[in-house]
Amino acid sequence: MRRAKVSIIGAGNVGATTAHWCAAAELGDIVLLDIPDLVGTARGKALDLLQSSPIEGFDAKIVGTADYADTAASDVVVITAGIARKPGMSRDDLLSTNAKIVGSVAQEVKGTSPDAVVIVVSNPLDAMVQRALQVTGFPHRRVLGQAGVLDTARYRTFLAMELGVSVEDVTALLMGGHGDTMVPMPSCTSVGGIPVTRLLDTKRLEAIVDRTRNGGAEIVGLLKTGSAYYAPAAATAQMVEAVVRDKKRVIPCAAYCDREYGVGGFYVGVPVVLGSGGVERIIELELTPDERSHFDKSVAAVKELVAAMAKLTG
Ligand code: NAI
Ligand code: 2OP
Repeated sequence: MRRAKVSIIGAGNVGATTAHWCAAAELGDIVLLDIPDLVGTARGKALDLLQSSPIEGFDAKIVGTADYADTAASDVVVITAGIARKPGMSRDDLLSTNAKIVGSVAQEVKGTSPDAVVIVVSNPLDAMVQRALQVTGFPHRRVLGQAGVLDTARYRTFLAMELGVSVEDVTALLMGGHGDTMVPMPSCTSVGGIPVTRLLDTKRLEAIVDRTRNGGAEIVGLLKTGSAYYAPAAATAQMVEAVVRDKKRVIPCAAYCDREYGVGGFYVGVPVVLGSGGVERIIELELTPDERSHFDKSVAAVKELVAAMAKLTG
């Protein structure tokens, strides 16, 4: 049986850790690409990971490279290339630098892997995925972003910690953009089938949502030298798995919404059915007035971000 080919662009923390989770789960052959100056890093991490295969017991080809020819005909391309925000850097600095990086990566992907499903991770996520769509010109169901799986995983972790229960029994959904405006959905959160609102009062639930909103910043504050990568990479690998194994997973992704939720042609976190074709369906829920108000604010923030990117990229 032909193994899937998964190319990961950016061999930094999130990229290399995504390669690790994907290899360990035998999701396919893996290509880890970075800029020419860091080709040794990409090659070294790929070889190191490959040498873990006899111990971990997985079969995969894993190569590091700076040459897009090695990524040709990938089934899935994950874009983690870019910089993370550093002290003293404005949001526009990050937006402008990463829009250029993601734009140049997307241009290469368009030529080398025209049939790939593209999963964008680089920040600011909701704008970067729009950039990847603009530049590749791929059907929008094949260009999507990772944020919701991570944000929901953080939320589930904090709920399990609060209630002293297994994370496996906490199912939840968060919608909206990646960041301050993410939309909590208590109506879609349950613990062993019990609605969360029967287990926690509104104040406690709001505190947990707040901690989730600041989940990325909390890790940055602790690490000091970079941002989170284990959970972001695990979230990305789950999306890769849904595509290469055609799992039809129902998970929140940054998906292109036009008429859906009345968004009008932007990427925003919504529940989707994810399979081999990418976003096979967006699940439209009837939102409560409170959820709708949070969601509209989130969409407005995404539109502002994309407008700022348009000014910077011309
Ligand atoms: P990192 O700095 O460890 O790695 C980024 C890598 O991208 C570096 O190795 C760099 O050389 C490479 N790179 C830069 N320009 C490139 C280009 N043109 N082509 C190929 N590679 C290029 O950063 P980390 O921690 O891996 O984060 C990567 C991105 O993912 C950041 O923008 C970060 O904010 C974002 N992120 C997004 C998350 C999400 O949930 N959507 C979660 C965590 C991180
Ligand atoms: C996070 O949420 C930085 O987006 C990244 O950890």
